[in-house]
Amino acid sequence: MSADSGVAEAAAVLRAGGLVAFPTETVYGLGANALDAQAVARIFAAKARPSFDPLITHLAEAAELEKLVGTVSPAVAVLAERFWPGPLTLIVDRPAAIPPIVTSGLETMAVRVPDHAAARGLIAAAGVPVAAPSANRFGQLSPTWAEHVVAGLGAAVDVVLDGGPTRCGIESTIVDVRGERPVVLRLGALPVESLEEAVGPVTVRPGSSGQPVAPGTLAAHYAPRTPLRLVTGAGPMDGGGARRGFLGFRSRPAGEWAAVEVLSSDGDLTEAAARLFDALHRLDGAGVDEIVVEPVPEVGVGRAVNDRLRRAAATWG
Ligand code: TXA
Ligand code: MG
Repeated sequence: MSADSGVAEAAAVLRAGGLVAFPTETVYGLGANALDAQAVARIFAAKARPSFDPLITHLAEAAELEKLVGTVSPAVAVLAERFWPGPLTLIVDRPAAIPPIVTSGLETMAVRVPDHAAARGLIAAAGVPVAAPSANRFGQLSPTWAEHVVAGLGAAVDVVLDGGPTRCGIESTIVDVRGERPVVLRLGALPVESLEEAVGPVTVRPGSSGQPVAPGTLAAHYAPRTPLRLVTGAGPMDGGGARRGFLGFRSRPAGEWAAVEVLSSDGDLTEAAARLFDALHRLDGAGVDEIVVEPVPEVGVGRAVNDRLRRAAATWG
């Protein structure tokens, strides 16, 4: 079967109310026809996702946003023009065509155009907006390979489109530009610095929990099954008699470890983000008692990487 026929078949499954996992530039998404409330309900069931956690609607082209919601604000237009297709999710008013289950009853809708040919081909062929969270079980590690989707969701998905590893490796940055000053609701693959270059100063909503405005911001999220500990400061570390795994930024730690993953020996944060979840999936499968993690530099996309690591650690804190 050619890749094209794969996309065409998957689009037919979407139109028929089925679930299709597909690659994007960030992570794999679990898609359903966003206009079909019953299809969207299957996403929540497949992920065991709480109904209060709204989904992102995906479009094939930026031009489709106006068709879906009518006129958009100048701030949305500027950011869409500048960063779509790309790893930026914008908050707009929910149009009547989108059933409330997509937005968990919110009058706002999160929307983006992914920068990935298969994703855009799929959405265009389906001819409908596609609601898609990350294609993992709620709260667990995000999927950056088709194999992660199959291992995590299995038979709950009708079709998995395999596009190999995703380029960015972490989710999109979510920004609300409805107020005076843009608010980053979730740090992600588009660095805050790039946003600020385009629209001036933004507010980054303090990450911790309590109020799950953007529940990828729940304090405990993105967690492996193995306890994970984030080390801060330069204290001594050891492999605990080789019962521990280590996730490092640039280099291997001293001592004996059962498993070691280095995110980027060149110290490249983009590479580190792209490898983050894959490395965590591997360490999670290594049979260790604990995963010890070193944070990356708190700059650019490194902020989003550390955000994920803190939430993963909070699950076990
Ligand atoms: O990169 C991504 O964004 C990936 C790919 C598949 O596009 N999707 C993704 O979806 O990360 P998910 O469901 O794992 O995270 C969506 C986040 C959640 O934290 C949700 O709370 C937030 O988007 N969200 C959705 N609608 C919202 C809204 N109306 N207001 C605020 N936050 C919203
Ligand atoms: Mg997610």
